[in-house]
Amino acid sequence: MGALIEASRICKRYNQKSNNMELKETSLSIEKGKIYVIEGKSGAGKSTLLNILGGMEKPTSGKVYYKGKSFYDLKDSDQAAIRGEKYGFVFQSFQLIPELTVKENIELPLIFTNRQEKMDKIAELARHLGIENQLHKLPDFLSGGEQQRVA
Ligand SMILES: Nc1ncnc2c1ncn2[C@@H]1O[C@H](COP(=O)(O)OP(=O)(O)O)[C@@H](O)[C@H]1O
Ligand SMILES: [Mg+2]
Repeated sequence: MGALIEASRICKRYNQKSNNMELKETSLSIEKGKIYVIEGKSGAGKSTLLNILGGMEKPTSGKVYYKGKSFYDLKDSDQAAIRGEKYGFVFQSFQLIPELTVKENIELPLIFTNRQEKMDKIAELARHLGIENQLHKLPDFLSGGEQQRVA
């Protein structure tokens, strides 16, 4: 079976004028149902690699394929649909919206992707994650681990 996500010779240089390559040329393939670990010292480029694989940062060169399609060559709305419906991404700093309650934070991506039918699953999911009593709180009033589970 083909790879779900494939990176072909990607690299990243944040500043076009600098010689410093923040992510050196990397190729890898991600298969369905497997768990991967990315290891490297701080500043090695792990987050950069994840942001590129996660469809949020265009590589300076190289291609990322999602189910065989070159992700960054798709039009913006197609990229957004894959990010919204196919990818899950827990940010290092969670990126919860401070003005919205926990429940509203969880609902937000479902609104963007028009998936109201999933709303009734929130209570069940919250129970599974042990945050069922936090749903009406603002993220600032949660512990770090609880915020991570909301994300
Ligand atoms: N948005 C950015 N603009 C400029 N440089 C960045 C940016 N993000 C990360 N870097 C630099 O790229 C290198 C790799 O960063 P990062 O991918 O966050 O490393 P890691 O997650 O492995 O600790 C670091 O030297 C960092 O300073
Ligand atoms: Mg990092």
